[in-house]
Amino acid sequence: MTDATAAESHRGAFSSRKVFILAAVGSAVGLGNIWRFPYVAYENGGGAFVLPYLVALLTAGIPFLLLDYALGHRGRGSAPLSFARTDRRTEWIGWWQVGICFVIAVYYAAVIAWAVRYTGFSLGKVWGDAPEEFLFGSFLQAGDPGVSLDLVPGVLVPLALVWAAVLAVMVLGVQKGIGATAVVFIPVLVLAFGALVVRALFLPGAGAGLDALFSPDWAALGHASVWAAAFGQIFFSLSVGFGIMITYSSYVSRRTDMTGSGLVVGFANSGFELLAGIGVFAALGFMAQANGVPVDEVASDGLGLAFVAFPAIINEAPAGGLIGVLFFGSLVFAGVTSLVSVIEVVISAVRDKLELSRTAATVAVVLPSALVSLVFFGTTSGVYVLDIVDHFVNRYGILLVAVVSMLAVAWLARALRPLSDHLNLTGSVRVGRWWLVLVGALTPAALTVVLVRELATDLGTPYEGYPGWMLGTFGWGVAAAVVLAAVLATLVRWRPRTSLTPPGEDPAPDPTEVAS
Ligand code: ALA
Repeated sequence: MTDATAAESHRGAFSSRKVFILAAVGSAVGLGNIWRFPYVAYENGGGAFVLPYLVALLTAGIPFLLLDYALGHRGRGSAPLSFARTDRRTEWIGWWQVGICFVIAVYYAAVIAWAVRYTGFSLGKVWGDAPEEFLFGSFLQAGDPGVSLDLVPGVLVPLALVWAAVLAVMVLGVQKGIGATAVVFIPVLVLAFGALVVRALFLPGAGAGLDALFSPDWAALGHASVWAAAFGQIFFSLSVGFGIMITYSSYVSRRTDMTGSGLVVGFANSGFELLAGIGVFAALGFMAQANGVPVDEVASDGLGLAFVAFPAIINEAPAGGLIGVLFFGSLVFAGVTSLVSVIEVVISAVRDKLELSRTAATVAVVLPSALVSLVFFGTTSGVYVLDIVDHFVNRYGILLVAVVSMLAVAWLARALRPLSDHLNLTGSVRVGRWWLVLVGALTPAALTVVLVRELATDLGTPYEGYPGWMLGTFGWGVAAAVVLAAVLATLVRWRPRTSLTPPGEDPAPDPTEVAS
């Protein structure tokens, strides 16, 4: 065994391409697919949204996914180490992604904890006749927007359980923890969600819901905000820009076909998203018909869709309890496989930089993350902080770091060609000039337009009318603090045993693995 191979096996690895693909799909398919996509599609042109969505998937999502794969598969390290091995001056971008993942993990876990409680609530329809009052009142005990440290035991306990489960999975490592969770959870998720969609399609009024979702509003294509929504959705949903795919691809055998795998992951994620849109809107159509109102009156966004509209549907639908268990259970399963991928970005980076054991790095990352998560999101102000952090970190975190990383890799490190050569060494789909043009110029340009527009909106109108100090602290403040922390982390020296030169030559492809 060479030194390089020994170091790699010490980091952990997925046992096969199949496990890697399941883990990557598990990361991609998450809360974003189930409650974000249906509403974003509906709000942004319905059936016509498919066009900007596909354009964003093919011109930005998949090309950027392949960049992540190339960085991690060639660099064979966590996000900061893979960037450092590509060009030392880009290491901070990897730490920026680590910071984004830390922030996302602490609030993402809270939404999973809510879904855990709602899975149980579904059986007894505990929310009664007024799910909205129940959500913000008895359950979250949310007062006026602000910060409070009054704990809410009903959220705190499941949240602590979610973190305990994450700790257990992460200590087990890449294959026995992350890989095994994906191998079990993804088939269960597909079955549970598939059953939900079939049940929803047979509800009276389902057709009206699908009409609402798929009736194209072609005029929407002329609005830049619709294109912005499509790019934003693709990035969040595919888990690109988080450093997740860099980290996961560093655990894949050097002979694995990464381009073919990328297409499988990209299309599986979008397929699931479409399925979610169909299931959710069929259920909303039922709700609208039962109440004699148009579908747009029952469709609401994010939290409202999952935790208000669905409880109302469960109240009225035949076998509603079953629909509830399938829907909220799917949220939990999809959420957990995404959360472990998000927190793995932080664990692997800390591990690489400090040369810690898997267990030590996991404990050093998960315990503080759990503490921050419990303090901020297990309290009566959690829902407001969550809403603000989610909005800002997605735009001025994920989308911004995506632009910066593409430009830095293309124009500072001038590494696009070696990276495409690396992908082509084992890839079943050839990465050619089209990829260089997209990743080096067109995609960052399109994303910059999107970001400038979003910035103008956020500067002009306080997001959701929250007080300025809250937006300054949890929105702009958190987004900026993550960049500062990234620069500081870059100043910590790598241990002498960690080489910052790109690992050795790639072996020839293994035809059996490429075909598997
Ligand atoms: N890609 C994950 C999701 O869609 C983060 O929720």
